[in-house]
Amino acid sequence: MVAVAILAAGKGTRMRSDLPKVLHLLGGRSLVERVLIGCQALQPERQLAIVGYQAHRVKAAMVDYPDLEFVEQTQQLGTGHAVQQLLPHLADFQGDLLVLNGDVPLLRPETLIALLQTHQQHQNAATILTAQIANPQGYGRVFCDSNNLLQEIIEDRDCTDNQRQNLRVNAGIYCFNWQKLQEVLPKLQSNNSQQEYYITDAVNFLSPVMVYDVADDREILGINDRRQLATAYEILQARIKDNWMAAGVTMIDPDSVTIDDTVSIGVDAIIEPQTHLRGNTTIGSGSRIGPNSLVENSQIGTNVTLMYSVVVDSSIGNNANVGPFAHIRQQGSVGESCRVGNFVELKKSTIGDNTNIAHLSYIGDATVGDRVNIGAGTITVNYDGKNKHQTIIGNFTRIGSNNTLVAPLNIGAQVTTAAGSTIVSDIPDDCLAIARSHQTIKPGWRPKWHQD
Ligand code: UD1
Ligand code: MG
Repeated sequence: MVAVAILAAGKGTRMRSDLPKVLHLLGGRSLVERVLIGCQALQPERQLAIVGYQAHRVKAAMVDYPDLEFVEQTQQLGTGHAVQQLLPHLADFQGDLLVLNGDVPLLRPETLIALLQTHQQHQNAATILTAQIANPQGYGRVFCDSNNLLQEIIEDRDCTDNQRQNLRVNAGIYCFNWQKLQEVLPKLQSNNSQQEYYITDAVNFLSPVMVYDVADDREILGINDRRQLATAYEILQARIKDNWMAAGVTMIDPDSVTIDDTVSIGVDAIIEPQTHLRGNTTIGSGSRIGPNSLVENSQIGTNVTLMYSVVVDSSIGNNANVGPFAHIRQQGSVGESCRVGNFVELKKSTIGDNTNIAHLSYIGDATVGDRVNIGAGTITVNYDGKNKHQTIIGNFTRIGSNNTLVAPLNIGAQVTTAAGSTIVSDIPDDCLAIARSHQTIKPGWRPKWHQD
């Protein structure tokens, strides 16, 4: 049986933030959420988070995880003190306890599984995740013998200059035999440079303790300051983009692209430079997204072209052609094979298939049919200063250029409106509507100053 405990009570002083460190976002998810998701592969019997600094905010941020139990550490007296808080909660628990630092968000599930297997195979009292890294500054140093058996962990601050040369570091991830850990937890003391109770001292009390070196040391990055948060983002991005490229997605200049790990992309999609895919977004196969586009919480069909555009909380049908400089937002739905072109904004509007809104338009709160053409410069007047009103446009209708469609409005199918019209009342099917003043021509007329 396995229980996991995530240490998430610290303030994170080095972040210099009002927000608890573990709630800082990394690629759209908080650090603590990433840690929790990372350990789900172990199918833990119990999942506990130790919270303290702004506990109410951390709890509120984790409401989507009802299996997570919260343990309060009212005073943050160190990582060892944090684990001591588990004693009453796990009094009856028998098995292994995996302790995870809430600020180490990039661990792969495979690594945790391998750590647990090593621990269980050797029946260790504890097994700790370590790495050999070129710049070990800030990490606890791990000393062990040639059989990977631990001799001692010493915190960076408590090391001598000589000890600091050791490149093997403590990742802050530990598997404990809970029975044995229970016995040593009360013995922790705070006689160190930080006057804190260290979980690493509990490890030092136990035997045998084995170290397990992670294959890829980028997994164990601990986030203590904003620089490390940015580094973690780079690592995460490289991982996500490598995965998509391996899965058949082309990226032109991947360094300029960012993709959340909640996004999914079909084969043969091409992601052009300076493009950002966020949140719950899917990109269909064969689509070409970018350059310079943002797609957030949106579903993009197959073989779509979308360039220099922003699409948020919306969907785009197969074979549509969007941009340059289109903005589609708030439940915008563009049908198949549509053309939504230059400087067009769509808001809360549903556009049928094969419809063109090609230039300089604002279409808000509208339902537009199939095979409609909206002329350049047309806008819906959807807002009277107080309420939003709907515009409905039927199939095959042609709205002339520079029309002002004053909602609420119901324009039928097969309608044509004249260029420059201000349409204020409903139009039945199969009509021509002209709503503009007649042109007047005054022969021989000149401005006064030209009359001499
Ligand atoms: C810790 C380890 C260090 C390791 C490093 C890896 C100790 C003493 N040191 O150092 O050996 O190399 O992680 O990243 O454990 N926390 C609590 N309650 C507290 C204090 C901290 O819950 O009273 C939580 C923090 O929210 C954080 C985690 O424990 O998520 C680690 O604390 P942090 O202060 O970052 O420890 P490090 O100095 O990084
Ligand atoms: Mg840390």
